[in-house]
Amino acid sequence: MASIPRSNTPALVQLLQWVFNPLGYMRTNFQRFGDCFQAEISPVNPEPLILLNHPEAIQYVLTHDSTKEITSPGDVNILAKPIFGENSLILLNGKQHRRRRQLIMPPFHGERMKAYGDSIYTIAREVMATWEIGKPFYVRDAMQQITMRVILQVVFGLHEGERYRRLERLLAERLNLITTPVTSILVFFPQLMLDLGSWSLAGKVRRLIQETDDLLYAEIRERRAEPNPERKDVLSLLLSARDEEGQGLTDAQLHDELITLLVAGHETTATALAWAFYWVHRLPEVRHKLMAELAAYRDTPDLMALARLPYLTAVCNETLRIHPVALVTLPRRVEKSMQIQGYDLQPGMLLMGCIYLVHHREDLYPDSHNFRPERFIERNYSPYEFLPFGGGVRRCIGAALAMYEMTLVLSTILNECELELLETQEVKPVRRGGTLAPSGGIRMCKVGESPHQVSARTVAPTAV
Ligand code: HEM
Repeated sequence: MASIPRSNTPALVQLLQWVFNPLGYMRTNFQRFGDCFQAEISPVNPEPLILLNHPEAIQYVLTHDSTKEITSPGDVNILAKPIFGENSLILLNGKQHRRRRQLIMPPFHGERMKAYGDSIYTIAREVMATWEIGKPFYVRDAMQQITMRVILQVVFGLHEGERYRRLERLLAERLNLITTPVTSILVFFPQLMLDLGSWSLAGKVRRLIQETDDLLYAEIRERRAEPNPERKDVLSLLLSARDEEGQGLTDAQLHDELITLLVAGHETTATALAWAFYWVHRLPEVRHKLMAELAAYRDTPDLMALARLPYLTAVCNETLRIHPVALVTLPRRVEKSMQIQGYDLQPGMLLMGCIYLVHHREDLYPDSHNFRPERFIERNYSPYEFLPFGGGVRRCIGAALAMYEMTLVLSTILNECELELLETQEVKPVRRGGTLAPSGGIRMCKVGESPHQVSARTVAPTAV
């Protein structure tokens, strides 16, 4: 049996490459070592970290990640603690993690999506209404406005009032501060986050955390005091949820889960949507095909049917394939000596599925750097060949919501307004916190109403 290949580049250099040029780091090591290699990229975990990029190896790990062989520990995600809070699902281990997921999962199941469709549709139209013809805007920021409002409504149950407006503004400020390409580096070097007073980054983050926390705790206290069984948002459901021992969540646990869902849910989906707009407007043939499909469904009141359209779904899948927002899965830990694909694995090793490298395997996705949604129509990929949301016991809780949001926002906006891409050069991905986002945010501008809107208007008078 072979031991896992490892680079002799010093650990600090590997960490810097991973932070500043993660795609280059992964590609170089893939070319040198192939399907599996040891990466020295964790500033906090001393255990060897193995990146896997063969679907069969990933399948083995993700189908055994709560067994005596492999586990899915949360305490190794220590870098996430200052962002999500110590009670976050992401930091929980074993039984505690399983119980918390049981509490949180129900509102995120596919069938609940129906209830969220109208909110997503309305929010997309509200944000779109602020775009003026000929005035450039950053599509990533616009998508972040949409996904933030969706989370505030769907998860927190907030849609109006002073507290909603303040939370929207303060949360966006708080998240933006820690996710610019420069400051996101501090996620990997938390010791550099020195609090040197209210003008330092750490000082500003501390102030924003205090202000948002006061608002969130006030909301939790009020909702506990006046429970309303009619409300269907995630916070209401979590307030009344009890585990098998009859225990509910404390205020601190609720707070950390809300922040987790907000951070994990809105940044990621906004970035994915921004990339989708970029590709649809960069490639005229993709846009024409998509517009033709949408034209047939323009007036359908059934948003679930719209979200299932095959080419629209393929465009969203191809977006998540070519630019998987999360590059790797969360780590799993080897508990017993074992072999995977001829490699020896020792207890204590941490394993991560390398989503980016799998999605760019030429044996699965020929010309992997070309955006071609047809791949997803011509072939069915297994959940270990296409895994933007990971898998196993830590599979993304918000996968159904994110896909629904992507398809609905994309179709609503394309159906109603005509946009132009203002970027003439290829847009490159850059690190934004733990994710990869389009560099510069992608400038676009509204040039008119969608051809669908115009033709609907011209047809309407004759119909009447
Ligand atoms: C395009 C959007 C999104 C992408 C690409 C994405 C991707 C991922 C990935 C790769 C993981 C790790 C899975 C693993 O290790 O196997 C994950 C975990 C997670 N995601 Fe997402 N996500 C997205 C949207 C969302 C949304 C909308 C929410 C909630 C509102 C959410 C909440 C979470 C949570 C709570 C976890 C941790 C699960 C656990 O530890 O058990 N994500 N996501």
